[in-house]
This record gives sequence, C-alpha cells and structure tokens, in this order.
Amino acid sequence: MSAIPASVRIVEVAPRDGLQNEKTIIPAAVKIELINRLSDCGLQTIEATSFVSPRWIPQLADAEEVYAGFTRKPGVDYPALVPNLRGYERAHAAGVTSIAVFTAASEAFNRRNINATIDESIERFRPVLERAKADGVPVRGYVSTVLGCPYQGEVPLADVVRVAKRLYELGCREISLGDTIGVGTPLKARAMLKAVAQEVPMDALAVHFHDTYDQALANILVCLEEGVQVVDSAVSGTGGCPYAQGATGNVASEDVAYMLQGMGIETGVDLDKLIETGHWLAKQLGKPTSSRVTRARMGI
Ligand code: HMG
Ligand code: MG
Repeated sequence: MSAIPASVRIVEVAPRDGLQNEKTIIPAAVKIELINRLSDCGLQTIEATSFVSPRWIPQLADAEEVYAGFTRKPGVDYPALVPNLRGYERAHAAGVTSIAVFTAASEAFNRRNINATIDESIERFRPVLERAKADGVPVRGYVSTVLGCPYQGEVPLADVVRVAKRLYELGCREISLGDTIGVGTPLKARAMLKAVAQEVPMDALAVHFHDTYDQALANILVCLEEGVQVVDSAVSGTGGCPYAQGATGNVASEDVAYMLQGMGIETGVDLDKLIETGHWLAKQLGKPTSSRVTRARMGI
C-alpha cells in the first residue's frame, strides 16, 4: 500500500455524465450556469459536454451552444467527450482544448453504447488521437465496465488491463477506469486498480465510480490507498448512461470533497459552494439530491 496522496484532482462530470441520462431536455442556459457555478467552486477539471450523435444522446445535442456559452476561467480545463473523427471536428471547431474518448472492457456494453467492438472503437480513435496530437489537444481515455457489465456480467481483469494499456499506448494521457453500473466493492476495486497499474503508471490513472450500491466512497478510499490521485464525480450524485441498464448516478462530488477534506487531502474545492451548487442543480432537475453531505447540511 502506498501513502495516501496529499492532493487529489476531482474531475467534475455532472454537465456531461450527470445530464446525459436526463429524459427531459434541460435548457442550454441551465447547463451553462452549472458549468460557471462549478468553476466558481474551485474545480480545475469540468467535463462540459459530449460531441456524440444527437440521435444517441439527445440531451447533449446542444454541445456547441453550451461550449460557446460558459465563461472559461483561466487554469480550468473543460474537456468534452468525442466518439469519432466527426465528434473531434465538431469539438475542435467549438474551441475544445482537451477531449476524452471512450470504450469499454466488455464487448457487449460497447456494442450497445457505441455500436462497435472494442477493436473497432480503438481503430476509430486512432485518427482522433493523431489529429488531437497535431493540434496539441490532450486526450483522456475512458474504460467502462471495469468491475462488471450490465449485459455480460463478470468482466475479466485481463480485459480491463488490456484495454487500458491499449488506450495508453495509443496516446491517451490519462485513463479513467469506470465502474459504469456501480457494482464494485472495495477489494475488487483495489485488485482492478493494482492490475492496471502494472501496465499503466498510477499517475496516469483516474477512477470513476457510479454509486448504485452505495460502495463508491469505500472504493475511492482503497484506490487512494493505492496511490490514485484523480477521482471523477458529479455534483448532486447525478449521472448514468442510457445504454447501461440499472446504473444510477455518479458518486456525489460533495461527498467526495467532504471525505477528502476530512482526510486532510487538498482538492482546491470550496465545499460550501459545492453544496450550494448541488442543491441548486437538484432543484433544476426536480429530483432530490443523492448527496448525504448536502442533505445533512441543508437539513433535507
Ligand atoms: P452509429 O449509429 O453506429 O454511427 O453510432 P454512424 O456513423 O452510422 O452515425 C449515425 C448517425 O449519427 C449519422 O446521422 C451520423 O452522421 C451521426 P444520420 O446520417 O443518421 O442523420 N453522427 C454524429 N453526429 C454528430 N456528432 C457525431 C456523430 N457521429 C455520428 N460525433 C456513435 C456510433 C459512436 C456515433 C454513437 O453510438 C454515439 O454517438 N454513441 C454515444 C453514446 C454515449 O454518448 N454514451 C454515453 C457516454 S459513455 C459513458 O457514459 C460512460 C462513462 O461515463 C464512463 C463510465 O461510467 O464507465 C464515460
Ligand atoms: Mg459514467
């Protein structure tokens, strides 16, 4: 076990992962206000939107409008998801300065989410990474279903390691390991991270836990103990993928920030402002927050 890191970067994914699964179309103005509020909370990385097919994710069909609408705070990175070269071209035209590509460790999930095999998805990313490299745009790579798949069930660790290694070798600077349906538990999460870290340096890894079974904070804790320094989360615990049946929201950013602050780990995040933002977002979405910290602080 390595020492717990002194600082952690929270990658806030609410504007993308948090909203992509919402059935009612949220006005671009609300998305823009959310991103501005999040940067005001001190977050350094805010995943702003996706340049995917609007037929597949209608909620984020306004990616260009959103990307043009928020105030870019100096020092803050606003990545966007890109599934193919078409998405890259849209993102680049919108002025996106960092992107994320996404695939999975399970074939069954990939087929439903991006209509491609793992190999096909990697081949689609190759020209995207070439273009991004030429444009000086850093790329994050997501590996989904690292602790279980809604269609295939168990996902062999060797598959997770292989896909993470391929994305890293392709040129992704950071690899985010996603428990897409939130089925993981701490010992499995630790074993998965340790296995990937044999092939990809720990300082290039991030963890992305959905919180379906209330295991995310425990999973994050063991991953911090292994030395991971980048944690994905979504304010108010929003999130989910329409192509991952049974998945609920991401771990709430407020809960992650509270835990890290209590452990003396630097995040640069203003917890009070984050709680206010989570409370505001829950009201906009008309659904109760899943953040225990927000509920405790707000007495709700
Ligand atoms: P396809 O249907 O196989 O592809 O979709 P296609 O090339 O045949 O295109 C279909 C239509 O989409 C065409 O339009 C294309 O022009 C258009 P039509 O001619 O029929 O009118 N199209 C696009 N339009 C705009 N922007 C684009 C684009 N590409 C094609 N970039 C595709 C393949 C990958 C495009 C599709 O499956 C897709 O967009 N999937 C996105 C799914 C998605 O966003 N899922 C959620 C994100 S992943 C996630 O949440 C997990 C994560 O959080 C980590 C975790 O939790 O594990 C990251
Ligand atoms: Mg996710």
